[in-house]
Amino acid sequence: MKKKYLLAPGPTPVPAEVLMAMSQPIIHHRTAAYREIFSEVNEGLKYIFQTENEVLTFTSSGTGAMEGTIANLLSPGDKILVVRGGKFGERFGEIGEAYGVEVIPLDVEWGSPVEPADIARKLEEKGDIKAVFTTLCETSTGVANDIKGIGAVVKDHEAVLVVDAISGLGAMEFKPDDWKVDVTVAGSQKGLMIPPGLAFVSLSEKGWKLVGESKLPKYYLSFEKTRISLKKNDHPFTPAVSLVIALREAVKMIKEEGLENVWERHACLAEATRAGVTALGLELFASQAPANAVTAVKVPEGIDGTVLVKNMREKQGVTIAGGQAHLKGKIFRIAHLGYAGQFDVTLAMSALEMVLSELGYKVELGRGVAAAERILLESKG
Ligand SMILES: Cc1ncc(COP(=O)(O)O)c(C=O)c1O
Repeated sequence: MKKKYLLAPGPTPVPAEVLMAMSQPIIHHRTAAYREIFSEVNEGLKYIFQTENEVLTFTSSGTGAMEGTIANLLSPGDKILVVRGGKFGERFGEIGEAYGVEVIPLDVEWGSPVEPADIARKLEEKGDIKAVFTTLCETSTGVANDIKGIGAVVKDHEAVLVVDAISGLGAMEFKPDDWKVDVTVAGSQKGLMIPPGLAFVSLSEKGWKLVGESKLPKYYLSFEKTRISLKKNDHPFTPAVSLVIALREAVKMIKEEGLENVWERHACLAEATRAGVTALGLELFASQAPANAVTAVKVPEGIDGTVLVKNMREKQGVTIAGGQAHLKGKIFRIAHLGYAGQFDVTLAMSALEMVLSELGYKVELGRGVAAAERILLESKG
């Protein structure tokens, strides 16, 4: 037997309490018992989303909610500004094109955050942009974007601000109401600590106004239909009942810890990971604005990054992620996301040291672990 550890930026590990809640006999969703559970989940989601607005729940992966956002906010030929600084930023552009929307790209070098001033400039240049699409944590590069700064430049414009918080929610400080975010998109298999299969969208009044004007086709992912059902703690279609039950348990855990403490825990794990890898002589890929959900690291010269990730999984039992698109083989990504604690970081460092050593990279065993431990000890005060 080889014990397995999941340290990828989604799906993330699911706590035993959540797994146990999911294993109960299925209940019917058009019942008072289910509606009570869903009502509790909805209150919890508003807390985790830090919003007074309702949070819509869809049975899909995160991309379903991204697609829903395009289909529900826009009309054919509308112009949208899409920040493309990684795989997931690009995805909004691809969906927009599939729906016949005019995509104005704002290309950002992968590994760097977008400058809010560049968004302001684009908005001024092209006055009739309907929506700006960006990402809280660009999982493919490990970059955290300055959503508060972006909100400050978009708020006085006609455009709505859409944020993909799929990997950032529940891991990084995020206050959509205060920061003037109009549409937040999230998914279940990251900071929310449950399996893949649910996606979420919450909208401001400005966002809902655009929904009222939208002419693109939608059915399963209709925000309006979903909102009407939500008023009765119901869904238009059969929901993933077991996942909603799982979410009730996960929400309870997040509430018990307190959201600010959850953010702080992620910040500390991220700092320890960064300290560990840099102590091994490795370079951070997103050094300017590293995210607290996932750390992207450059593969050192002479090492095959694909083999490194494979050996981590097959020899050490530790699943991390490699690079995507042109970063394949060039970076690797270690997540500290959701149900993650200090020993996830030290075990990642330990496995990494062993794999690097076997691949011929000069490494002093224990150096990365020790550097991570020092940060973890400091953070305990
Ligand atoms: C930032 C971000 N956006 C979008 C997605 C896509 O979500 P899903 O794979 O759940 O469709 C992911 C998943 O990794 C992500 O991290």
